Amino acid sequence: MDGSITIPKHIGIIMDGNGRWAKKRLLPRNMGHKKGAEVFQDITRYCNELGLEAVTFYAFSTENWKRPAEEVNGIMSLLKEYLVKAFDYEKENNRVIFLGDKSAFSGELLDLMLDIEEKTKDRTGMTLNIALNYGSRNEIVHAAQNIAKRVRDGQIALEDIDEKLFSDYLYTKGQPDPDFILRPSGEKRLSNFLLWQSAYAEFVYMDVLWPDFTRADLDKAIIEFNKRNRRFGGV
Ligand code: FPP
Repeated sequence: MDGSITIPKHIGIIMDGNGRWAKKRLLPRNMGHKKGAEVFQDITRYCNELGLEAVTFYAFSTENWKRPAEEVNGIMSLLKEYLVKAFDYEKENNRVIFLGDKSAFSGELLDLMLDIEEKTKDRTGMTLNIALNYGSRNEIVHAAQNIAKRVRDGQIALEDIDEKLFSDYLYTKGQPDPDFILRPSGEKRLSNFLLWQSAYAEFVYMDVLWPDFTRADLDKAIIEFNKRNRRFGGV
C-alpha cells in the first residue's frame, strides 16, 4: 500500500455473502461460512500488518438464531475452531474482545470466549472485536438500562449522562469509533451493526462475496475511503 494512503484507525466489517457463495457452487451453506472463516483469519492478519488500531467483524447477529439449527451449529463449530486460532495469534499480539450478549452462550464456547478475553487483555497490538450475538439496538437498550439502574441507585446523577458516559456503557467501551464500515456482497444495509459507533463512519459497499474477499479488495476499499472528504458536520 502506497505510503501516502491514510489507513483507517478502526474498520467494521460485515462478512456477508457466504450463503450465496456456497449456492453458486451447489455446496451446503456451511461451506460458505468455512471459506468465510478462512478469509476472516487472513484479513485479520492483514489488518495487523497495515497497523490498524481496531477491527470489528460481524460474525453472528441477534437475528441469526432464526437460521436452521444445522447452520447455526455449523457457525458455532467454526467459531470454536477459529477462535482457538485467533488466540494463537501470539505474533500479532491482538487483544480479542467479544461484542454482544454473552448470556446466550454456555459450555465450551463461552469458556473459550472468556479465556481468550482474559488472556489477551493486556496485549498491546490491534484490538480484534468479534461481534457475536450482537445487535446494536440490543446494545443500546442494555446501556440505557444499566445507566438507569445507576441513576436509581444514586451512583450517577441524571446530569452526568452525556455522549461520553453513554459510550462507556457500550460493548466497545474505550475504543475509537469505526471510521470505516465495509460491507461486501452487494447489500447496502447496516443490519443493526454499530449504529451508535458509526455515526461519522464512511460506508463502502463492494460487490465481491465475503468468501472471495482478498487483501487486494481491502486495499481497494481503503483507497476509496481515502477519496472521501470527511468533514464531521463542518464545512
Ligand atoms: C453472512 O453471510 C455471514 C454470517 C451470518 C456468518 C459469518 C460467520 C463466519 C464467517 C464464520 C465464523 C466466524 C468467525 C469470526 C470465525 P450470509 O450467510 O447471510 O450470506 P448470504 O446473504 O449470501 O446468504
